Amino acid sequence: MRTYPDARGLPLTAVAASAVAAYDRAIDAYLASAADTGARVEAVILADPGMPMAHCLEGYLLILAGLPDTLRRAPASLSAARRRAEAGTARERAHVDALAAWCAGDIRGTIDRLEAILVEHPRDILAFRIAHYLHFFIGDLFQMRDSAARVIARWDESVPGYGYVLGCRAFGLEETGDLAAAERDGMRAIEINEHDIWAGHAVAHVFETAGRPLEGIAWIDRYRSAWEGHGTFARHLLWHRCLYFLEMEKHDAVLDQYDTLVWTASSEDNLDVANAASLLMRLEMLGVDVGRRWEAVAEVSAGRVGFHNRPFNDAHMMLAMVHGSRRNSAARMLEEMRHYASTATTTVAPIMREIGVPLCEAITAYAEGAFGRAVDLMMPIRYRWYVLGGSWAQRDVFQRMLIEAAFAAGRLPLARALLAERVAVMPRSLPSWRRYATVLDAAGDPAAASAARREADRLAA
Ligand SMILES: [Fe+2]
Repeated sequence: MRTYPDARGLPLTAVAASAVAAYDRAIDAYLASAADTGARVEAVILADPGMPMAHCLEGYLLILAGLPDTLRRAPASLSAARRRAEAGTARERAHVDALAAWCAGDIRGTIDRLEAILVEHPRDILAFRIAHYLHFFIGDLFQMRDSAARVIARWDESVPGYGYVLGCRAFGLEETGDLAAAERDGMRAIEINEHDIWAGHAVAHVFETAGRPLEGIAWIDRYRSAWEGHGTFARHLLWHRCLYFLEMEKHDAVLDQYDTLVWTASSEDNLDVANAASLLMRLEMLGVDVGRRWEAVAEVSAGRVGFHNRPFNDAHMMLAMVHGSRRNSAARMLEEMRHYASTATTTVAPIMREIGVPLCEAITAYAEGAFGRAVDLMMPIRYRWYVLGGSWAQRDVFQRMLIEAAFAAGRLPLARALLAERVAVMPRSLPSWRRYATVLDAAGDPAAASAARREADRLAA
């Protein structure tokens, strides 16, 4: 076996240049979240079963999918990659080490190995994209931003895949609060390649965070046909589209989109479940009757009891189960989570213990009407639950729950304080001003309530 350069000039151990070309196509598919990514990876392995990076890529993608079945299959990819990498390059062996750490649940160890690869090989786009994902997975917001900054200095627009790095930088910038730079980078990445759905998603987050829902809807609609073939992630963009409608108080439109775009059929995919549970919870907190929509999401969630690879997912599944007539499954899941938190040695175990378990206890308390208990459980962790991973927009459902729980528990000074904080951070959020007015009325401050209502009316106009 000898090496051939990949699209960015990095040597890859392979049987022929054509196998590396197939590998490049698989990497492109992965970077664009293309629906045929799995098929393209299979094609590489078929073309060159001896290529170490082909097996590594397969292993990474199996763990990424995060399903019980895919996680079970990942160690076989690791073994295949390890055997083939013995005669490979140092970089390929470092990838095998990273995959081994990830298979063992050592996410921090995986990140360290990938970032070490990137110091030496800043154009290793697979190492970069997996590291980016893992920073996102465990809420390493600043690492997400800085990882992109470190490598992009060694790229330029002539290097294939530059736009993907730019798109990742956009998301890191957005999540760390630099909205203008995020918008600039994300839009440039889409100019380079409109199929770069992750970059398009970063811009969608900018519109959400900045309170620009009309622009957000126009943005998603403009690229919807380009993104349609991008599987699950395309539906996440349509979930974002629903958030804009929520901000404009168009609840019927959200229900309609839930049925026709977000949860069109029962799905086992973690992101689909999170999208659905999050949207239903937001609707319910706004007083919208969601009918029996919880049931199907609860059913999928109940099938996952005892499977813990991410407390972020567990929290969303817990939401679905406690609101979707699966209280027994929810109780069992909580027990399993406590057990995992106290026995597992993975990176996720302490996150489960410190944030996942109390948050899921709060979700249960909320559903049982024990709002005071929900507040008591959420207040101590609210500034730390970013370690659950996901985005600010996704975790906002928990922030909304805390406010609603405080209000429902009759803790009006706290509800008032939390809403004062919220409208300061999100001054263009119409429903937030509306809720603030209601709470101010209840707290006996009609003058402040009128002012909040005027602001809401101004935003609605
Ligand atoms: Fe998102």
